[in-house]
Amino acid sequence: MKKLMLNQKSGLKYSDIETYVTKLKSYQKNFVVFPSSIYINEFVKSGYNTGIQNIAEKTADNQTGEITAPQAISIGVKSVIIGHSERRNNQNETSEVLINKFGEALNNKLNIVYCIGESLVEYKMKNTNTVLFNELDEVLSKIDKSLIKNLYIAYEPIWAIGSGMTPTTLEISTITAYIKDYLSNNNIKAGVLYGGSVNDKNIEELSKIENVDGFLVGGASNDYNKVIKMCEIVNDSTK
Ligand code: PGA
Repeated sequence: MKKLMLNQKSGLKYSDIETYVTKLKSYQKNFVVFPSSIYINEFVKSGYNTGIQNIAEKTADNQTGEITAPQAISIGVKSVIIGHSERRNNQNETSEVLINKFGEALNNKLNIVYCIGESLVEYKMKNTNTVLFNELDEVLSKIDKSLIKNLYIAYEPIWAIGSGMTPTTLEISTITAYIKDYLSNNNIKAGVLYGGSVNDKNIEELSKIENVDGFLVGGASNDYNKVIKMCEIVNDSTK
């Protein structure tokens, strides 16, 4: 069965959360949800496997506006997203920042979803493998690999995020195989997810790609009807 990770980003209002939590209660075992931090408790107290979209680079109690890994753990969070392109680009998260966040997550035993992906220009120039290698290596070569327990690499082409476009299944299959080669060459045990415009319409086709262990879904995860459909499709073990 493919893993389903739901990155709600910053879309939902508090008034949407109660319905969402209620409608998906019987499906909650099928996915990990990454809500806005201010809604995390609503999910945790209803038994959802809940992650956080970001954590602070260090543990200290004088960081206004930050949420540290120990704080996330203390509320029941189990996983964290690191390296999402929206944070790399909008919050200028450099590899140094990502290495620090990785360290915090590993030291606090958070499961990690590490996002990598090329821009449209890089894709068109056929630089995808180089970009992915660099994004993997600049972080994974700097962390204590012995602490890795539960790591997923999410391949998310930047041009596919929120655009309705996806690479072909052959491209995804080839690129995720490349990522798996990197991982095995470096003795790293990790699953590989695909993310970028995954929805209830294309997830069945994407589920047929052998090297893909699951999906990181953004926009479509904010519509509980779409989530129900996606759960039903990935839950069908023949897929
Ligand atoms: P999308 O986002 O599904 O809306 O393309 C994916 C992501 O950014 O994780």
